Amino acid sequence: MFWYGEKILEELRSQFPLQPLFEALKTPGKHLCLRVNTLKATPEEVMEELEEKGYKPYQPYLPELVCVKVEGPFEVPKLEKFVIADKRAAESVMMGADLYAPGTLSAEGLRPGEEVSVLAERTLEPVATGKALVSEIPKRGKVVEVTRSKFKAPKFRELKAFEEGKVYPQGAPSAIAVKALEPEGLVIDMNAAPGGKSFYAYELMRGKGKLIAFDISKKRIQKMVEEMRRLGHNFEVIRADSRYLDLDFPELVGKADRVIVDPPCTAIGVIPKVWDEKKDEDMINAYKYQIQFVKVAHKLLKKGGLMLYSTCTLTKTENEKVLEFAQGLGFEIVEKETPWGKTPIKVNPLEHGEPGFFISILKKA
Ligand SMILES: C[S@@+](CC[C@H](N)C(=O)[O-])C[C@H]1O[C@@H](n2cnc3c(N)ncnc32)[C@H](O)[C@@H]1O
Repeated sequence: MFWYGEKILEELRSQFPLQPLFEALKTPGKHLCLRVNTLKATPEEVMEELEEKGYKPYQPYLPELVCVKVEGPFEVPKLEKFVIADKRAAESVMMGADLYAPGTLSAEGLRPGEEVSVLAERTLEPVATGKALVSEIPKRGKVVEVTRSKFKAPKFRELKAFEEGKVYPQGAPSAIAVKALEPEGLVIDMNAAPGGKSFYAYELMRGKGKLIAFDISKKRIQKMVEEMRRLGHNFEVIRADSRYLDLDFPELVGKADRVIVDPPCTAIGVIPKVWDEKKDEDMINAYKYQIQFVKVAHKLLKKGGLMLYSTCTLTKTENEKVLEFAQGLGFEIVEKETPWGKTPIKVNPLEHGEPGFFISILKKA
């Protein structure tokens, strides 16, 4: 079920057939990808480990983007005994992850060892079946060990290459967006955490440029710093409200060669979804927030410098309308090749089998 405001529906309908789009949003992309940390490993050695583990990896877009197909959908029965998972947990369980205490909303009258269905909150649709491990929701730990899920995703986190920081799981459109920016010189990431785009920008520069990553969220920065350690990266991560970087870091004004703006959005392109709810005002408020970053990006850039503006949503307000705003500031649209066409491009699950994602490159004239 998709509870979207009228204006959001209208914007989606003007671009996609609505019902097929909703079906596509309930399904994962055709594959999941690992971006090889080429500062530590070669794509060949990562491919080799995946093959040893029984996967069939391939490199659809770039050598350093190694992908494995997602299997499914499989039939999942609704058993008499069940547990209810919150939206986030249900969306990972649907891909084969086990269910843990924080994502469990209800688990009544279970007997450890018995087979149960995992249902998504609100829709009560089964996303998996598995073995109950407890009789009630514990404070922490696993509640259901999943044995059969609607989809089966590769378990990248169990790889030795993951433990050794040789790979970072990243959506293909997100990686391609960074590649299209051609990071060099001084790169400022204004919405950096949990770090996917920063990490790739850093790797692509191979120690030649300088990257400064900003984010407002303490928790997300902590996660990013842990990931940086795993990957062996070394760049500055600063907690700040990026809407005021020009005032708080005046020494950066007019100095950046590249800026990444990847702001919060309505996330309609994030898949698979068990259901979703977004009001028109969520989209409008997101737009008002997004243009504040674009305004500051324009101040930070040198003349001729490039901005990547990307989102994981499909509305026009948060993508095309933000570009119009940017052009009003003096940005020019730059066409860069991507596997799905020239930028600006809206990658989408219906046409491309990838998560919904908007990639645009703009030049400060
Ligand atoms: C879509 S996520 C970024 C994902 C990231 N670029 C990546 O590729 O992993 C948006 C980020 O913007 C951050 N954010 C929200 N408001 C912000 C603000 N005022 N200043 C800086 N960062 C902000 C959020 O904390 C969140 O981490």
